[in-house]
Amino acid sequence: MQRIAIIPGDGIGPEVIREAVRVLERLRETHGVELQLTHFDWGVDKFLREGVTLPAAALEMLANDFDAILAGAFGDPRDTANKVAEDVLLGMRRGLDLYINLRPVQLLDARLTPLRDREVDDIDFVVFRENTEGAYCGAGGFLKKGTSEEIATQEELNTRRGVERIIVAAFDYARAHGREKVTMADKSNVQRFGGDLWQRVFKEVASRCPEIQANHQYVDAMAMFMVLDPGQYDVIVSNNLFGDILTDLGAAIVGGLGVAASGNIHPGRVSLFEPVHGSAPPLAGKGIANPVGAILTAAMMLEYVGSKTASAAIEKAVRESVANNETTSDLGGSLSTEEVGMAIARRLGS
Ligand code: NAD
Ligand code: IPM
Ligand code: MN
Repeated sequence: MQRIAIIPGDGIGPEVIREAVRVLERLRETHGVELQLTHFDWGVDKFLREGVTLPAAALEMLANDFDAILAGAFGDPRDTANKVAEDVLLGMRRGLDLYINLRPVQLLDARLTPLRDREVDDIDFVVFRENTEGAYCGAGGFLKKGTSEEIATQEELNTRRGVERIIVAAFDYARAHGREKVTMADKSNVQRFGGDLWQRVFKEVASRCPEIQANHQYVDAMAMFMVLDPGQYDVIVSNNLFGDILTDLGAAIVGGLGVAASGNIHPGRVSLFEPVHGSAPPLAGKGIANPVGAILTAAMMLEYVGSKTASAAIEKAVRESVANNETTSDLGGSLSTEEVGMAIARRLGS
């Protein structure tokens, strides 16, 4: 029995996670998947009510008592300093050392892409985003804050170990999944120190994997090519910030944030799965958010905990429901969040 922590979070998080849970529960009947689900109410409401973001000893509990975590989204305009996302989401990524942020960019149905004349096979790559350091290290500060001479510094941390393990993970994935090419995106023409380290490590790791083609692009050019020629990518590796930005763009070319899934992974340890999208305040409470990103995220989670058949069944059910226009309005349909979840659950068969 796999033990899963469910953290719905804020905004549309609870709405989309409810549908992901519906699908997981349906798999018990259709595929014999036995999961023990434990819900946690961490999020902005709890923070405003109790002053607690990530409860004391939560990380130890997650690491010791769970096999995986399924989260919705964190962030709410009432949390002006974004403390909940910092403590809970970034806290889990850093505290559980989830150094791989794996974000697939896969076209489920040709009509979902805003790009002209693309087939499903034309957009199918994965992004390996470094997930524990870079611009997310929280280093920096103010001098003379609030004065006209104010100085703000914001630093980026790149450790040899951190850079190497994400690049190695990207090459290992390429080898294990029959992918031909790894493309690294950086801004080493300007960021001469961090960029230099990434360049050296990339070449070194690539030289140990001669069967995989190693390719480099500056991140600005990659943003362009991702729109004009996404078919060239197999596996992309980048730092935390560029990976964040590129994966919203990646989501956009396959139907939008409503369909994008992600995993925050440390192989062999408890790992965290959450859709790429955030709490989408304008959509919250209306029952119109697309649950597909959360449902495909649950599929990624199942694959991680060893239920590969059930994971593939979810993906098939999602493809069928999209093909039959059982979608929310962002994908051109007219169903509610709940109706999409029920349609996908039904398609899992019996
Ligand atoms: P967002 O991803 O929440 O939403 C941007 C827009 O994308 C939405 O307004 C909507 O048009 C669309 N969208 C997103 N998810 C959708 C869905 N499931 N179905 C249909 N359309 C969807 O990004 P934002 O507006 O920049 O951020 C809102 C809040 O979420 C902020 O507090 C931000 O920090 C937080 N955030 C959290 C996470 C996370 O917890 N993983 C990720 C991104 C943003
Ligand atoms: C994401 C989000 C987060 C990030 C925010 C909410 C801290 O944008 O998961 O992509 O920047 O990583
Ligand atoms: Mn993001």
